[in-house]
Amino acid sequence: MFLSNTHPDHNAPLEPVDAETLGIAAAEEVERFLTHRDRHAETPLQSLPAMAAGLDIGALHIKDEGFRLGLGSFKALGGSYAVIRLVLEEAGRQLGRPVDIAELHVPEVKAIAAEMTVACATDGNHGRSVAQGAELVGTKAAIFVHAGVSDERVAAIARFGAQMIRVEGTYDDSVREAARVATENGWTIVSDTSWPGYERIPGLVMQGYTAMVREFLRQVSEPPTHVFVQSGVGGVAAAVAGHFSIVLGEKRPIFVVVDPARAACIVETARAGRPVKIPHGEPTVMAMLECYEPSLVAWRILSRVADAFMTVEEQDAISVMNRLARPSGNDPVIVAGESGGAGLAGLIRAAADPEITAALGLNATSRVLVINTEGATDPKRYTELVGIEPERLAAVKGQTTGQ
Ligand SMILES: Cc1ncc(COP(=O)(O)O)c(C=O)c1O
Repeated sequence: MFLSNTHPDHNAPLEPVDAETLGIAAAEEVERFLTHRDRHAETPLQSLPAMAAGLDIGALHIKDEGFRLGLGSFKALGGSYAVIRLVLEEAGRQLGRPVDIAELHVPEVKAIAAEMTVACATDGNHGRSVAQGAELVGTKAAIFVHAGVSDERVAAIARFGAQMIRVEGTYDDSVREAARVATENGWTIVSDTSWPGYERIPGLVMQGYTAMVREFLRQVSEPPTHVFVQSGVGGVAAAVAGHFSIVLGEKRPIFVVVDPARAACIVETARAGRPVKIPHGEPTVMAMLECYEPSLVAWRILSRVADAFMTVEEQDAISVMNRLARPSGNDPVIVAGESGGAGLAGLIRAAADPEITAALGLNATSRVLVINTEGATDPKRYTELVGIEPERLAAVKGQTTGQ
C-alpha cells in the first residue's frame, strides 16, 4: 500500500503552535537538557554503502537509536524529557520563580518532585522513558501496560522503581485507563499520543525527539533527499518531518511515513483525510507500532509535511532485522528490534517498485535517511527472530549494542 499525500494542507506551513513545539529554539533546549543526563552521547550514524548499491540509491544512512541513553530506543528522548520539564514547571509555580534543570537536585525542588506522580500507558519503550525520567527527578511513576506487553518489557520498566499496572485489552484501552485513573488520583498523565484538549504534554514528548534531527544534521555533510520513518501514533514521524521542514524549508527531504499493514492508522488517516480509528486485527510483530488511532497533533503536522504514506508486511520487518544483523560487503552490523527496522523495510519495498520510485523521485543520486528506532529492547524476541543473541552478535563484530 502506497499513497501520496493529497491532503489540502500538504506543504502548508505548520500551525504556529506546532512550529514552536518543533522549532530550533526548542530543539536547542532539548539538547541542553540532554547534557544533564547520565549516559548521554550522540547516537551513531551508520552508512550502508553495500545496501545502498543494492537498492540503486546513492547513499543510505541509518541513525542507530539502539544506543540512546542506555534505554535502547529513541523513546528515551521524549517521555523523560517531558517529565523533567513538568517537574521544573511545577517547582517554578510553587517557588514563584523559574527553576532550571541545573537545580534538579536542590532539596526544595526534590521535595516538590517527590509529591508528584506521573502516569502513562505504553507498549514498552515510552513507559521505560517516563519511568527513567521519574527516577531521575525523584517523582513517582505509574505505568499502564496492556495484555500484549511482554514480561521482559514490563521488567525493564519496573527496574526504575515504577508501579506497573496491567490492563485488559489493547494499547488504546491502556491509554484510556491510564487517563481515567490519573484523573481520579490527580496524577500527571505523560502520554506520547494526543487527543482533543490534551496536546501540550504529547507536544513536549515530540519536542524531545527533535534531538535526533539536530544530531543527524551535524553528522552529515549534505542533508538527505529522502527520509523514511515508521509510525505508531505518528509522533516520531511528525517530530522528525516537522523539524526538518523548519530547519531546511523548501529544501526539506521527501518524507515517507511507514506503518505496519496490520496497524496502519496513519495510512488510513491519510486515505480518509482526517484522523480515523481503525479496527483491531491480528497483532503485529512490530509491537511498538501497534496503534489503531493516530495522535491528533502528529496528524496535524504530517498532513502538512509528509509526502507519502505506505505499509510494510510482517515478513518485511523480520527480514530487515536479519539483513541488518548479517550485512553484505563492509556494511556494519546493526541490531534492530522488531519495530526498529520498519522505516528501512519501507525503503526496501519502495526501491523495488518502479511506480513508487517514480512517485518519490528515488534514484541513484538519492541520499536516504532511516532511523533504527530501537535496538533489541526485547532480547528474547530478538533472538527468536534473528537466531542469535543480540549481545553475541555485537561482540562478533567487535561492536556494542548500547543496551
Ligand atoms: C521503537 C519504536 N519505534 C517507533 C515507534 C513509533 O512512535 P510513534 O508512536 O511516536 O509513532 C515507537 C513507539 O513506541 C517505538 O517504540
